[in-house]
Amino acid sequence: MFLKRICAIAACDAKGTIGKEGKLPWHSPEDLRHFSDVTRGQVMIMGRNTFESLPKRHLEGGVGIVFTRQAPLLRSEFHLHFVSSLEQLFGLMPLFEGRSCYLIGGAQMYKFFLEQDLIAELLLTQFHGVYEGDIFFPLGQIAGWSRTLLREEKEFTICRYLGDSSFRQIGAQATI
Ligand SMILES: NC(=O)c1ccc[n+]([C@@H]2O[C@H](COP(=O)([O-])OP(=O)(O)OC[C@H]3O[C@@H](n4cnc5c(N)ncnc54)[C@H](OP(=O)(O)O)[C@@H]3O)[C@@H](O)[C@H]2O)c1
Repeated sequence: MFLKRICAIAACDAKGTIGKEGKLPWHSPEDLRHFSDVTRGQVMIMGRNTFESLPKRHLEGGVGIVFTRQAPLLRSEFHLHFVSSLEQLFGLMPLFEGRSCYLIGGAQMYKFFLEQDLIAELLLTQFHGVYEGDIFFPLGQIAGWSRTLLREEKEFTICRYLGDSSFRQIGAQATI
């Protein structure tokens, strides 16, 4: 198993909302800076919808791996790969030894990776307010995970959640 450092990063509001009409429900340069600080230069795994909405500057210097069922029709390059299965993802990981690996969304991907028990750690920005939206983080799937407060701001808090995954034994923790 090559996927030993999987960590997810997400931001949600008080109700678990993460997206609105294909975009983020809020405008928060501060949280985007946190996202960039954590993921810059690393391997970022995401679903196709997130890839389409993500400003491409976030991928500069890093590696993007995009899940899509249309992967066979798309051309991958060294810094951008399209995959349609976990097997394909696992096959790529040895290419990126030495980089940390982050699952960056969206909801379909968080759900899928949590179901597969592939997330050891979640860095979750929790906005205090409630925003309009149509896409939600599957908060039920992290019920019972241990939670550590990392940072507290006026608008949001950032917490680290650790799950009961076997990968946890490896002790890979993102630093913020
Ligand atoms: N607040 C946050 O932290 C955060 C983070 C990321 C995204 N978002 C927001 O979340 C929304 C996007 O999330 P989403 O749930 O709609 O989409 P998503 O998870 O980003 O992407 C879904 C797409 O991924 C592909 N996919 C899903 N499961 C797959 C599987 N098992 N195998 C292969 N491919 C698979 C499919 O692509 P194809 O249709 O091409 O087959 C599917 O349409 C946007 O509003 C975005 O702004 C928020």
